[in-house]
Amino acid sequence: MWRVTLIFAFISLTMAVDKSVIIIGSGISGYSAASKLLENGFNDVIILEAEDRIGGRINTIPYDDGFIDLGAQWVHGQQGNIIYEMTHEHFDFGTTPFDDIPFTFLLSNGTKPNQELINAISKLCFEIDHKIYTGDTFTGSFGDMFIGIYDGIVANGSSPVFKDLDPVIVKMMKETSERNINGYAAIKSWFDLSAKLCAREELAQGSQHNTWRRKGFKTVFDFISKKLPDPSQHIDIESKVQLNKKVTNIKYNINDVNNKAVITCADGSAYEAKHVIFTPSLGVLKKYHESLFTPALPEQKVLAIKLYGFGAAGKIFLEFDESFWIEEGEPFVAYQFLWLDADKEEVKAANREWMLGISAFYMVDEFPNMLEAYLGGPNIEEFEASSDEKIINDCMWAFEKFLGKTLPRPKAMIKTNWLTNENFLGAYSYPSMDAEKAGVGIQELAESINNNDGKPILLFAGSAMDEKYPGNTHAGVRTGFRAADEIISIYQ
Ligand SMILES: Cc1cc2nc3c(=O)[nH]c(=O)nc-3n(C[C@H](O)[C@H](O)[C@H](O)COP(=O)(O)OP(=O)(O)OC[C@H]3O[C@@H](n4cnc5c(N)ncnc54)[C@H](O)[C@@H]3O)c2cc1C
Ligand SMILES: *[C@@H]1O[C@H](CO)[C@@H](O)[C@H](O)[C@H]1NC(C)=O
Ligand SMILES: *[C@@H]1O[C@H](CO)[C@@H](O)[C@H](O)[C@H]1NC(C)=O
Repeated sequence: MWRVTLIFAFISLTMAVDKSVIIIGSGISGYSAASKLLENGFNDVIILEAEDRIGGRINTIPYDDGFIDLGAQWVHGQQGNIIYEMTHEHFDFGTTPFDDIPFTFLLSNGTKPNQELINAISKLCFEIDHKIYTGDTFTGSFGDMFIGIYDGIVANGSSPVFKDLDPVIVKMMKETSERNINGYAAIKSWFDLSAKLCAREELAQGSQHNTWRRKGFKTVFDFISKKLPDPSQHIDIESKVQLNKKVTNIKYNINDVNNKAVITCADGSAYEAKHVIFTPSLGVLKKYHESLFTPALPEQKVLAIKLYGFGAAGKIFLEFDESFWIEEGEPFVAYQFLWLDADKEEVKAANREWMLGISAFYMVDEFPNMLEAYLGGPNIEEFEASSDEKIINDCMWAFEKFLGKTLPRPKAMIKTNWLTNENFLGAYSYPSMDAEKAGVGIQELAESINNNDGKPILLFAGSAMDEKYPGNTHAGVRTGFRAADEIISIYQ
């Protein structure tokens, strides 16, 4: 009998339960999952990252003696935003005052429209956006809903704002709203965006544009690893990350008793793990799901991957020797361009169509000589393919046209390439008309794949996989934690 006991003790000592986890992607969702797992005693964790850096769509780069963000920039909302909640007592956020200072509207013929009037229309447009995002009775596309409400108000004539208005202005403001939504939701067309599914998303309450000042969004990783606020609590996630490891295949077998997944990388290396957390973007899933997973993913998940939206957005940073946008005594937050039809034709003929995707040029918190542009719409590919020189020339051409004066060239320009980069293939997810019509969505995207014993072998995290705040960094944290919790709960 003693022999048997001894053998059992020996087995349990050497064969500690295999709780190995491989996380694919070191963006905010992968990083969050790793943090939670390590904190709970799961030491056999590896993060495989295709890029040569940590962070994913949080890409903070040094600039001057501070940092700027090529990807996520603002903490959107406060109450209910897990990022704000874990940081705000220890970090003094700044703000971009989009809600406090009216935008400066400019006409493409170099004149300023009646700002008061334009601001009133602009306010109405934001109210319509809000109505659609919070309503529950809408069907059809965001664009159709917007146009219906907007045209109704204009035609009704009972709105004092729209009474006796120049139809050119009415049209330009509608187009401005479309450009704003194109950028906000990273879409090509607001007719692709489902009004009904937009209304299901939630908005964390409080200020929407909290900034990391000159420190950049990367600061969030120090909070997730608990280096902040108390360095003695630091969880070493970085040493678990292997960079330049592009995963090309994940082989799993839900019927195998030993059920380890085999992960193969582009450099030929292979890894095994009991659980795999997959975090790359929906764009990567759309393009590569067939070659990435063996066997193929379940039908409903594939349908959701194909039909749910993943769009593109871009940014431009321009730094000047001094600001030309601040005029004596005039508060400034953003320029918004109003294109007259004739000038739109000119811009297309001159191969500058990408410029029609710019929703606004706005100030950058704590960089007084910098202007930043945000872009959405159908021309991001053209934007990304354009040389730096062309982007600078086109921007200066537009500024001079809209402001009606000659201006000095910028001393620096930085632009993004999220759509072209194979590890992202876009910016963030959006609820599409196609997904609404097919009745598939975030639930199908996010569902884990279990072994026959009911335990998850393949888990999905990432900012597209959250029903509450899809597309946002805080969704990334939430889904990373959720995947980690799902694994932790198996062993409890
Ligand atoms: C221009 C822009 C502006 C934005 N602005 C905001 C904002 O202001 N506020 C906000 O909250 N959110 C914003 N977002 C959205 C936010 O950045 C993302 O939703 C979030 O960072 C996504 O995190 P993630 O971990 O889910 O995915 P990712 O950050 O994409 O992480 C996935 C990781 O997987 C890696 N990967 C991909 N393929 C492979 C592979 N085959 N093998 C191994 N690794 C792979 C990628 O390199 C990446 O590092 C913005 C995004 C963009 C692009
Ligand atoms: C510019 O366009 C606006 C809107 O159509 C018009 O009211 C204004 O007269 C134009 N100004 C010039 C100088 O062309
Ligand atoms: C016009 O607006 C008024 C006031 O908001 C409203 O009572 C009326 O029903 C509207 N009419 C139409 C045709 O929408």
